[in-house]
Amino acid sequence: MKVLVVGNGGREHALAWKLLQSEQIEQVVCVPGNGGTATMESCQNLPLAVDDFEGIGEFALKNDINLVVVGPEVPLAKGITDYLQSQGLQVFGPGRAGAQIEASKAWAKALMQEAGIPTAKAAVFTVAAAAKSYVQAQGAPIVVKADGLAAGKGVTVAQTVAQAQEAIEAIFQGQFGSAGEFVVIEECLIGEEVSVLALTDGLTIRPLLPAQDHKRIGEGDTGENTGGMGAYAPAPIATPELMARVQTEVLEKAIATLKSRGIDYRGVLYAGLMISPHGDLKVLEFNCRFGDPETQVILPLLATPLEELLLACVQQRLSELPPISWKTGAAATVVAASGGYPGAYTKGKVINFTDQAIDAAVTIFHAGTKLNQQQQIVTDGGRVLNITATGENFTQAIAHAYSVIKGINFEGMYYRRDIGHRLAGK
Ligand code: AMP
Ligand code: GLY
Repeated sequence: MKVLVVGNGGREHALAWKLLQSEQIEQVVCVPGNGGTATMESCQNLPLAVDDFEGIGEFALKNDINLVVVGPEVPLAKGITDYLQSQGLQVFGPGRAGAQIEASKAWAKALMQEAGIPTAKAAVFTVAAAAKSYVQAQGAPIVVKADGLAAGKGVTVAQTVAQAQEAIEAIFQGQFGSAGEFVVIEECLIGEEVSVLALTDGLTIRPLLPAQDHKRIGEGDTGENTGGMGAYAPAPIATPELMARVQTEVLEKAIATLKSRGIDYRGVLYAGLMISPHGDLKVLEFNCRFGDPETQVILPLLATPLEELLLACVQQRLSELPPISWKTGAAATVVAASGGYPGAYTKGKVINFTDQAIDAAVTIFHAGTKLNQQQQIVTDGGRVLNITATGENFTQAIAHAYSVIKGINFEGMYYRRDIGHRLAGK
């Protein structure tokens, strides 16, 4: 099989890496890929934009691509799946209609309410004045969300009414472009977050191992939100009992309601959950794709060949497959970022990998990297590398990742030293 992976992050490097572990996979093409996928055996990059649907389709047809796997939400929301399917290609990832579950928070909220999925109480506004008076009446803390895709930056967890008003103002002044035509205002939930990514063929839905992300830039979960600074799996907070509830109270309800709306959703349904101190479960958001960096810690533990699962989703025969099988142990990833991220940072710093950066238990997934003209790996984004390790337990996996990261350096490199801090005592 030849597979084309759309995207250029650590998630896509991990998808390509996992696919290539199967004897069934001859070649992976990443569009546009990064420095890691450029230098991996049997993998090549194709320098097209992720929303160049015609270019991607033409290449895939000419090169006998058997399966297209779409990483990021933007091409999904723009309808890459609908287009490539119309060209006769097999595509993993929902069509434009299904991708609304991530691309519009108001749409997702309405779906959750209709399905009876537990979620934060919310109201949707189209004008600032009404939103502001609602916030005034509700009081703080309160959560303000731009409706559309905002690269993870559209949510403000406001500790004061004034902060919430400012966030509303910014959204309606167009800070997020058309993502800000609606604002969703939500009750602020407290607890611990966990990501449950599930594979679905539109009829059957099967969860992958639960993972926990570290969204904030600073140690102790402080500072600004980022795309994610580290992750681990399987997250102990998601006990088998909790996962059973996620299955019936969230995943099955979501798929049934999508189906009742005439949406044939095949791909990943990612539920971002908040677990309260009392064990209550609520959905914070749905995503229509694999999580990043969650995928980087889930895939190393997957024992079932990935392409079997992806094809079963695309061909709507997931129920025929045996249960997904997993390796024992744990996985953790630490993100090395460019200094300044998630604010401004500079690119093009040469990355040095010393001998200390080699460990059989560790895989380095590249995110914002590229090969320069001198064939050096240089930084090319905010999140640069995902140092990913497996071990018999979390202590081992985390120790491996941190030992390897000490062997890597580039100017301004930053990483959190406390990945896994919530695991203490678990
Ligand atoms: P979202 O993109 O909706 O998941 O929001 C991004 C992040 O904002 C989440 O991962 C949470 O950390 C936080 N967040 C979102 N909604 C809420 C909420 N209702 N209460 C508390 N925190 C929230
Ligand atoms: N790690 C969060 C996300 O993929 O949205």
